[in-house]
Amino acid sequence: MNSRRSIRFFSSKPVPPLEVMENIIKTAGTSPSGAHCQPWTFVLISNPRIKKEVRNIVEMEEEINYKKRMGEKWVEDLKFARTNWIKEYLETAPYLIIVFKQVYGYQNNNEGMVEKTPFYYQEMSVCIACGILISAIHNAGMVTLTSTPLNSNNKLKRLLNRPDNEKAILILPVGYPAKDATVPNIKRKKLSDIMVHID
Ligand SMILES: Cc1cc2nc3c(=O)[nH]c(=O)nc-3n(C[C@H](O)[C@H](O)[C@H](O)COP(=O)(O)O)c2cc1C
Repeated sequence: MNSRRSIRFFSSKPVPPLEVMENIIKTAGTSPSGAHCQPWTFVLISNPRIKKEVRNIVEMEEEINYKKRMGEKWVEDLKFARTNWIKEYLETAPYLIIVFKQVYGYQNNNEGMVEKTPFYYQEMSVCIACGILISAIHNAGMVTLTSTPLNSNNKLKRLLNRPDNEKAILILPVGYPAKDATVPNIKRKKLSDIMVHID
């Protein structure tokens, strides 16, 4: 896992087989979840027109995020990653996975009517499933970028026709790195900085 890196430059070819994509999403679906609610939907997009629309939505919101919503400190803290609101990878990556958390569920009551049912610890459950998803992508020899669609939820939901109980939390471009892809020079914390052993 130490060789996993977030990649922001993708090759549009080769395209991973659909079966591989299905298997990594099945793997994410093995995640533990609060009361086994499985509060997640993974929308897999390979259609170029929809990828372009996702890119348009995200870039429009990200330009406002960078210029107004995030503030100076946040933008300064991101300088090492050299990111901005231009997200070419949303079109070049052969697949996008948009992860939705289900804030509540639906079930049939005794009268045969559909009613809302609570989902417990949805945020934590979906985050664990995303960790498993990212590990599965890495295990399959592919790369991704954990990207957060700040303020894009409503437009993405409309575009992808998602129901009321869902909220977009991550967009993951998935594929292979571009030949000339670079990554920021970062260091990970040492074991002694992240582990406390109480013997
Ligand atoms: C919750 C979360 C949100 C992130 N959001 C973004 C993002 O919106 N755009 C981006 O380029 N990178 C994003 N990243 C990627 C981080 O910048 C990256 O994981 C970090 O710099 C460490 O690099 P590595 O993943 O290569 O180890 C995000 C990562 C996480 C875990």
